[in-house]
Amino acid sequence: MKTIILLITLYLCSHADTRPSTLFEQKCSICHMQQRPHADLMETMVAPPIMGVMKHVKEAKPTRNEAVAFVADYVFNPTRDKAVCQPQAIQRFGLMPSQKGNLTKEEALIIAEYLYDNFGSRGMGRNR
Ligand code: HEC
Repeated sequence: MKTIILLITLYLCSHADTRPSTLFEQKCSICHMQQRPHADLMETMVAPPIMGVMKHVKEAKPTRNEAVAFVADYVFNPTRDKAVCQPQAIQRFGLMPSQKGNLTKEEALIIAEYLYDNFGSRGMGRNR
């Protein structure tokens, strides 16, 4: 699996600027911001910031595989039953709209791994 993802990444990188961080910016960051929100941004937020999202995902899905699979699936099939974020988040923002047609399954996997590896860790340093 890792090899396949690596090959896909290499293939994509050789053709366009589709690094995981760029993919996230293009496909997700229009709603999910990457910084901790300042007070003045709170009002205009349309979705929870990504580090908070990933913190909840990691708390609910103990292994990397489970967490990555969860994110890669949720972007296409979001439901209230599956959601691991705080109920207030769905109350405030509504359920995430399915991103079907906005990205491929391969892109969703690449983004999910990137998010797992860079956001929401309880460990040192990487808790952005
Ligand atoms: C149109 C706005 C929008 C876009 C684009 C968007 N999201 Fe979301 N997302 C939301 C909202 C709103 C929520 C909070 C409600 C919910 O959990 O469904 C959310 C929640 C989530 C959650 C938490 C799910 C849970 O368990 O509650 C994950 C994971 C997530 N988004 C990943 C992504 C990824 C990855 C992308 C890019 C491929 C993305 N989102 C693009 C609006 C968006």
